[in-house]
Amino acid sequence: MMTEKPTFYITTPIYYPSDKLHIGHAYTTVAADAMTRYKRQRGFDAYFLTGTDEHGLKIQQRAAEAGQEPLAFVDGIVDGIQKLWQLLDIDYSDFIRTTEKRHEQVVQRLFKQIYDQGDIYKSEYSGWYCTPCETFFTEHQLAEGHVCPDCGRPVQMAQEESYFFKMSKYADRWLEFIEANPDFIQPESRRNEMINFVKQGLEDLCVSRTTFDWGIKVPFDEKHVVYVWFDALVNYISALGVGSEDESKYQKYWPADVHLMAKDIIRFHAIIWPIILMAAGLPLPKKVVAHGWLLMQDGKMSKSKGNVVDPVVLAEKYGVDAIRFFLLREMAYGMDANYSEEALVNCINIDLANDYGNLLSRTTAMIEKFLGGVVAPGSEGTDFDAELLELAAQTPEAMAKYMDKVDVANAIGEVWKLVAKANKYIDDTAPWTLNKNGEVEKLKTVMYNLAEVLRQVTILISPVMPNVAAKVWQQLGLSAEAAGQDWTALGWGGFPAGTKICRGEALFPRIDWEAAQAAAAAENETTEPEAETAEALVEPVKPEISIEDFERIDLRVCQVIACEKV
Ligand code: ME8
Ligand code: MG
Repeated sequence: MMTEKPTFYITTPIYYPSDKLHIGHAYTTVAADAMTRYKRQRGFDAYFLTGTDEHGLKIQQRAAEAGQEPLAFVDGIVDGIQKLWQLLDIDYSDFIRTTEKRHEQVVQRLFKQIYDQGDIYKSEYSGWYCTPCETFFTEHQLAEGHVCPDCGRPVQMAQEESYFFKMSKYADRWLEFIEANPDFIQPESRRNEMINFVKQGLEDLCVSRTTFDWGIKVPFDEKHVVYVWFDALVNYISALGVGSEDESKYQKYWPADVHLMAKDIIRFHAIIWPIILMAAGLPLPKKVVAHGWLLMQDGKMSKSKGNVVDPVVLAEKYGVDAIRFFLLREMAYGMDANYSEEALVNCINIDLANDYGNLLSRTTAMIEKFLGGVVAPGSEGTDFDAELLELAAQTPEAMAKYMDKVDVANAIGEVWKLVAKANKYIDDTAPWTLNKNGEVEKLKTVMYNLAEVLRQVTILISPVMPNVAAKVWQQLGLSAEAAGQDWTALGWGGFPAGTKICRGEALFPRIDWEAAQAAAAAENETTEPEAETAEALVEPVKPEISIEDFERIDLRVCQVIACEKV
């Protein structure tokens, strides 16, 4: 009898098509992709949604600047985003655009339903208004001199007719829900932050605008467009066809297992979205997971400084799997991570070239040299076998414990403990000595164990590095079937005895960072003469001050330890 597979539904935020996507955006999508592949390996029917968030004043303005209709303007950008995901081997199940009919219909239906039941009502929004920019600002958003922070022109106190969503009504229900579902917001620090926020009192949310029209129309009052966040959040269910003729995906996958995002938008996902669903009478997602930010040491990109953050450039230079591995390995659970190209190169050299790559090349080289290229266990073992086998047996569960929390960095860490152990096993067993002493049976066992660990490690890491697996199978002489693609193949001894290996090139050649830097600098010198001359650089910007003037200065130093978008 066929049993239904358990399902797993994971989402990324839908991205604004307004900025060029950088390596930070890539993090969330790569993490969600790795989670999906991992769940599939474990027998789940995993569904992965991403997409683009295409409405709002900013897009309308940028399209106008480009002399295009908004939709034509975003089409081109969305195309580029999809190509980027393809390049990074992102295997999403669906890509939703908020400009699609299937999405707009659901937003309008929900908006009307919530209005009809009295949880959306008409009122007035008041704030500081910049007429040329057609934008409202709160008092503290205004620039110095009480002017528009965007254009610097004066603002007026103004009222706009708006619809409001009765968030306040649901605050207690939200708090009860969070109490009853302590794992709903991850990591825990974010949960506490959200609880404190709600306990301070929830205000009703302004959910429509009349000052621009690039958005989804309020169905019963067409001079209003739906507030972009109300519009955007609904993508997670509109993509599943909720309320449409074919609701099968919605029935199958909703509620989502994980909404994944960075901490900047946790409030929308952990508070506003659940309350919209409560009001609509729909089930709430199971988990909202917020990761940290990938911080650029130096905001400005420059080839000579080596801080390129364009994923396309990086993937071409270092390979897609290495980029994916680096992102997922580097971002510790819930924490920010610093990005630099040098850190990427270090990760490639240490974790990939030195640890994993070397394990493969040492193992295959010795199998070839000592055993004519054939892998088969011998009739004798060594004192070091038990410990290696024990760790190999424990690693999948150790990894799973972290993956199930979407803590991919620690999950990789568990696999890398096994890689380190296997490298140590080579040093401990010294196969070259066994070979010299004619201890062939022991030697065969050692080489078999190494090949088998490599098979296991490669199955475990393939959700992170989907292309590397195929290359390793080839070098180990395994067909994909023999290698085993999912966790049912993890039982020890799955490596078919008698397999002939097929040694190949180094998986991850070491990168000489210093030399690459010197070469890049030399190239810059010849091809891009510096714009500033030496004099320009030494010329003072302001006239020099005297030592007396200097003594009157009150100089203070501070360190910015945290900042958040408001
Ligand atoms: O906020 N480090 O879209 P967005 C890590 N359209 N992650 C980063 C990052 C960085 N430096 N920069 C961006 C929006 N991200 C809305 C979402 S959802 C209903 C609507 C990732 O294009 C991270 O996942 O600004 C963050 O949450 C997301 O990009 C924001 O993308
Ligand atoms: Mg953003």
